[in-house]
Amino acid sequence: MVILGAGPAGLVLGNLLHRSGIDCVVLERAGRAHVQTRARAGFLAANTVRILDRHGLAEGLHRRGRAHGTCEFRTEGGRFRLDYGGLGLREQHVVYPQQYLVTDLLTQFLDAGGRIHFGTEAVSVRAMHSTRPSVTVRTPDGRRGRWQARYVAGCDGRHGAARRALAPGAVRHHHRDHGVSWLGLLVEAPPSLDAVGYAVHERGFAGHMARTPDVTRYYLQYERDSPAGAWSEDRIWGELELRMHAADYGPLHRGRIVQRSVVSLESDVLEPLRHGSLLLAGDAASVISPSAAKGANLAVLEAEILARALVDDLTHGDGQGLARYSARCLTHIWRAQEFSQWMIQLLHGPPGPDGESSFHNCLRTSRIESLRTSRSQQDWFAENYVGV
Ligand code: APR
Repeated sequence: MVILGAGPAGLVLGNLLHRSGIDCVVLERAGRAHVQTRARAGFLAANTVRILDRHGLAEGLHRRGRAHGTCEFRTEGGRFRLDYGGLGLREQHVVYPQQYLVTDLLTQFLDAGGRIHFGTEAVSVRAMHSTRPSVTVRTPDGRRGRWQARYVAGCDGRHGAARRALAPGAVRHHHRDHGVSWLGLLVEAPPSLDAVGYAVHERGFAGHMARTPDVTRYYLQYERDSPAGAWSEDRIWGELELRMHAADYGPLHRGRIVQRSVVSLESDVLEPLRHGSLLLAGDAASVISPSAAKGANLAVLEAEILARALVDDLTHGDGQGLARYSARCLTHIWRAQEFSQWMIQLLHGPPGPDGESSFHNCLRTSRIESLRTSRSQQDWFAENYVGV
């Protein structure tokens, strides 16, 4: 079994297969240090924690992660909190930076004797409709190599070799560009509120998410084609404070901005996720906008479903799980996409003609108001916000 990519999807899959006695190797383009320090998502859903628990992979997150169950909405009309951990299915997130999770998964994989090749980029996947698919790689010293296996798992993200291997006619590519961009910021400062903060402002959305006691992520809706460095630090803090109504609700803890990136809110889903002996999981299967923090959670869920299906096939000759893999995952993916899209519409006005955007903005105000006042709406929100 060859697994492309050592992100959450590839590493959960690798751990589960290796423990079940399946011979597998992970091929990762980046170096180990890069993989272990890449700051990305950080909110793990209750079901993700259950999956990691089930397989003995959650020790680090129980030790260092923090339970989180509140979000706060700030608008021109005021602010309100939703203690979502006590609503809906009464589930919480665990805040645990993705690079910590990846480091834990990697350490456990290697400690158990798992094989991984860093600095090894998959260039192409061939013969995926046979029972001996192969992967051509570029090794760290620049040479070409080739791996062959019974199955290849494409866990190498949206720009990886697995996606590139799919013939245009063989896959349906559902894609949406939400027309909105965020400036994502990682700041060396403690969180400014004990909740996820969502600010809806006429100048655009601003978001606040805790990462660790000393690091906080902020988001600012941003001009689409501006480079990440276009705004000065002063301008960034000014916009954050304005949009988050810091003058009314308390100052933001400023700190050094250690990472900036522009995120275009885009979503896509590939269908199907199985192409003979090539199986897609994580971002390779579907990219989801970060508006509801679903990406890493979906990746872990899909990896567990795929691991079970592969073990059934490879050890018991039972291919039913693999036959159902794509349909099963797509049900979860579309549900997460639907909620994520709902969040995008809650948090942003649409680009477009004035009349249309004023109509949308009034709908958005009404939607936020029903979230503030309706218990059934709050339960629905909580169930979908934490669920995958
Ligand atoms: N060959 C080998 N490795 C590759 C290649 C390639 N051609 N292309 C990419 N990779 C590696 C990347 O370096 C990365 O480590 O594949 C890995 C993919 O990892 P992620 O991007 O973290 O993707 P995934 O495991 O699917 O997790 C997805 O995690 O950060 C969250 O929200 C984010 O949705 C995302 C989720």
